[in-house]
Amino acid sequence: MDAQTVSLVQNSFKKVEPIAATAADIFYDRLFEIAPEVKPMFPAVMTNQKEKLMQTLGVAVQNLHQVETIVPVVQDLGRKHVSYGVQDAHYDKVGEALIFTLEKGLGDDFTPDVKSAWVETYTLVSMVMKEAAAEVPAPKAEKKGLFSRLFAS
Ligand code: HEM
Repeated sequence: MDAQTVSLVQNSFKKVEPIAATAADIFYDRLFEIAPEVKPMFPAVMTNQKEKLMQTLGVAVQNLHQVETIVPVVQDLGRKHVSYGVQDAHYDKVGEALIFTLEKGLGDDFTPDVKSAWVETYTLVSMVMKEAAAEVPAPKAEKKGLFSRLFAS
């Protein structure tokens, strides 16, 4: 990740931080609109979840210039997400909701360069999460599926 990309992401995120609560509302509203199937994975009361999202984003963004220091944390996060029932395809929806949120939150400051810097960052983070997730044994629901397939017909 080059220095230009890192500073575009870091500087634009500084403008989102003061409106973090609104940004989190926009993000989840959009996510549940484009991917209603993921809503049951989340708690009914989302306050803590929203805080966690913005905090984690903040920490990740602050450390982008030394991305190797956040890789193990991001891998752990990816493994944790398997237990929430998150699948690879969901990452595209979350990425879409994130870009939408930045576009709304930053307005004219969301230039094409800023956009591609965020796309690059999200792609990298989600790739690390998905790779770590792929090494986790299939969740119980999958095993049940296999069991019933073995005993089918
Ligand atoms: C780069 C991508 C992502 C990041 C940085 C991220 C970040 C986080 C963080 C920090 C937590 C809190 C973990 C904890 O409690 O220790 C979390 C929880 C969660 N995430 Fe993600 N996430 C990402 C992608 C996704 C995707 C694609 C989905 C699928 C819909 C998803 C669904 C969830 C769910 C269901 C929870 C648990 C909610 C709860 O029970 O409190 N996340 N995520």
